[in-house]
Amino acid sequence: MSSEKSLFRRKTIAAILQNPPADHEGHTGPGGLERHLTVRDLTALGIAAIIGAGIFSTIGKASLDGGPAVSLLFVFTAIACAFSALCYAQFAATIPVSGSAYTYAYASFGELAAWIIGWALIMEYAVGNIVVAISWSDYFTGLMDGIGLHIPLWLTMGTQTGHAGYEAVQTLVQSGKSLAEATAAVSPAQLDGYKAWMQAPALTDSLHLVIDLPAFAITVAITALVYVGIKESKNASNLLVLLKLIIVFIVIVVGAFYVNPANWTPFAPNGVGGVLKGVSAVFFAYIGFDAISTTAEECKNPQRDLPKAMMYALVICTVLYVIITLVLTGMVSYKELGVGDPLSFVFARVGLSRLSGLVAVSAVFAMASVLLVFQLGQPRIWLTMSRDGLLPSVFSKIHPRFHTPSFATIVTGFFVAVPALILNMDLVVDLTSIGTLFAFALVCGGILIIDPYGKSEARFKVPYINGQWLVPLILAVGAFFIVRYNAVSNHEFMLDITGQRGWIEHDALSGKVTGGFAHQIPTLVFFLFCVGLSILSFRKKLSLLPTLGLLINLYLMTELGISNWTLFFVWLLIGLAVYFTYGYKHSKLGRTPELVA
Ligand code: ALA
Repeated sequence: MSSEKSLFRRKTIAAILQNPPADHEGHTGPGGLERHLTVRDLTALGIAAIIGAGIFSTIGKASLDGGPAVSLLFVFTAIACAFSALCYAQFAATIPVSGSAYTYAYASFGELAAWIIGWALIMEYAVGNIVVAISWSDYFTGLMDGIGLHIPLWLTMGTQTGHAGYEAVQTLVQSGKSLAEATAAVSPAQLDGYKAWMQAPALTDSLHLVIDLPAFAITVAITALVYVGIKESKNASNLLVLLKLIIVFIVIVVGAFYVNPANWTPFAPNGVGGVLKGVSAVFFAYIGFDAISTTAEECKNPQRDLPKAMMYALVICTVLYVIITLVLTGMVSYKELGVGDPLSFVFARVGLSRLSGLVAVSAVFAMASVLLVFQLGQPRIWLTMSRDGLLPSVFSKIHPRFHTPSFATIVTGFFVAVPALILNMDLVVDLTSIGTLFAFALVCGGILIIDPYGKSEARFKVPYINGQWLVPLILAVGAFFIVRYNAVSNHEFMLDITGQRGWIEHDALSGKVTGGFAHQIPTLVFFLFCVGLSILSFRKKLSLLPTLGLLINLYLMTELGISNWTLFFVWLLIGLAVYFTYGYKHSKLGRTPELVA
């Protein structure tokens, strides 16, 4: 088969660089994107994408499981993200065009992998934004309640959530309980779902109109902003970031006065296993730094500024996260932190109700800025895929006046806003993480392919450390700790259920306890992969940092449970079907042999 017909046809970097207009100053020519972003804007965009639902919401549950030691988990996860960020930065410096990991995979692994990663990135951006929109709606609804404006319950949650609450109550009633007993027995969230279902207009006997209107509305508003221009989006994002940072500083400074060091003991009440159980939530808190790389064609000096901005954003957020975790777990006992709004909760708890309200307002802004960046990133990935012929050309249509990818932006809005109306949050959080980890793993692997010995001429490259001995050694030490502590984050701690220490499997879809061999498959495959990579690294003296990045991301993926893997594979299969029916045939590379590496 000729190389341009191969599924692994790779684009030369020179060919990729031909895609954007060459001019690096101001306007990029008729129909092009505009270059407005400086290192400060990019760092702000990174912070805008990173600080959001993770720190305002999921940190609570992670602290409940792990105690104050979750602050160390933030450091550990930041190191893991830093390996990926270094690889992203080298790619961004080598190939400064839109498309992020998708483009990088095109140059390193070839077209099929590039398509798969582009497809997986939809999970990070679009599915991630569904999470943030739903979370935003929760805070917003709470705020409205606080000022006496009650939005009807049936307009504040997804259909799935309402139905689940109704089912929970019905099941108890059918088992012989009275309605009063059943509603008293379910959780507060299920009770809200039940009430919403009962109050909602009935479309049919089995379908009531329970929808998350605020989540839908904020997505539409943000999409409209992103549609009208990168400059407007940048200004809005910078403003939101400033507000967000101010409130985070206030939380830290005021909170510090209320810290009681006794709350830090025990530091890790549920051991290493309890701490690592928060891995997904903490990882979610870091997702977003990579979104900066999707704006490469709108940066004034992408090769210099993108790597810097990614690192700045990651370091700033890590410092803030660690301090916030220490403040939170110092202000109240970790046992009280299992709430959806921990940052405002702790202030209400110590009697500062005004500050608590202020934090809640800021959470609404913080999450809006995450939405903004992700809503900005997704269309730019589609734009790049469309330029390559893998998606129809309408996806790369640039608005003549606003200079934004107009059609792709509207499709993104649709993709996020409609599911946000109906879906339940738990499912989408894990899907976001698995898609993102996959993308990070491929980016790290991509550096091992294009530059395994750190010899590239790029203006930024991952420092080369010989992994010949270190990779096997670090893997051996890691394996010892994993086996020793049996630390598996998708498992549920049993202590409060049976009184015994131990772990059970927890299915993300049904919430039911599961188990069995299937759940070990990702771990076994990972183990075999580690052995293979150790041998390869030993023989080829691979660069240590990308290798570790690849392994850490894959390890975190194994923690996400078989049900997420199953859904992820279904998603990938749909993607492959689209590729083989459209992309493979229309690919520009397939029709232009001189672009093939
Ligand atoms: N890191 C982003 C957040 O926490 C996705 O909302």
